[in-house]
Amino acid sequence: MELPNSYWDKLASRYPRYTDESIRRDAKFIFGVAHNFGVEFEDKNILDIGCGTGTLAIPLASKASKITALDLSQPMLDIFANDITTLNLDNKVDIILSSWDDFELAQTYDIVIASMTPAISSIEHFDKFISSTSSYGIFVGWGDYKNNDIVDILIEKHNASKSKTFGQTQKFINHLMAKNIHHTSSYFETSWSDDYSFDDAFEYCISHLERFGIKANESIIKETLQIKQQNNKITFTTNAQKGVVVFKNFFV
Ligand SMILES: C[S@@+](CC[C@H](N)C(=O)[O-])C[C@H]1O[C@@H](n2cnc3c(N)ncnc32)[C@H](O)[C@@H]1O
Repeated sequence: MELPNSYWDKLASRYPRYTDESIRRDAKFIFGVAHNFGVEFEDKNILDIGCGTGTLAIPLASKASKITALDLSQPMLDIFANDITTLNLDNKVDIILSSWDDFELAQTYDIVIASMTPAISSIEHFDKFISSTSSYGIFVGWGDYKNNDIVDILIEKHNASKSKTFGQTQKFINHLMAKNIHHTSSYFETSWSDDYSFDDAFEYCISHLERFGIKANESIIKETLQIKQQNNKITFTTNAQKGVVVFKNFFV
């Protein structure tokens, strides 16, 4: 399901930053897979598509010669820009407010990254992504599952089941295989917890049920959240699989 820009704008203030523990673990795994495939970030010109708050771009900024960080959400980029300034890394980063579709590719980059972003979701996006690198590309997407303790209870209480909307990583791998592009891939488990007020938790549940195509029953949600509420907050814990794919582009 395509998410509107406003979804990302609204998410920005609670989206994890580069300091978040779960994000740091993921980044270490992703960079490790890239390193084992021969990727070196030192002095490279890097494009990060759908960079968000800079979870991957910030740890790379001190090594790279330049990072071009592209995202369609101004609030995400504001958080990123603020952290970059605090870290005195402004001269290393060019920030671009644009969707991947609208971005005019005027050059290639040594390394191109797209992590957890719907910017790279169609075959056309895949091809533009592949053609934007002169050497390496790093793709991170959902693997086979994403379980959230409270949302999963609600799905059951709605007598529904989760439609499988994941597997974007496999779709990208299939595309690379069809094009005979040399690559490696690896899956890993990640988990994180988030605290919400009752009202925000309610909205979160409605939007997640809708994403699974389930018509939300408000009284079921309220009743469930009341049971889960402790000290005026509701904690959601998510366990999910992510996949990382690193490819080398010989053909550009
Ligand atoms: C889940 S966040 C990922 C952020 C970061 N790459 C990470 O791995 O933590 C997805 C980001 O993609 C951005 N995004 C969504 N659709 C996009 C598009 N079509 N073009 C560019 N950015 C997009 C969103 O604004 C959001 O910041």
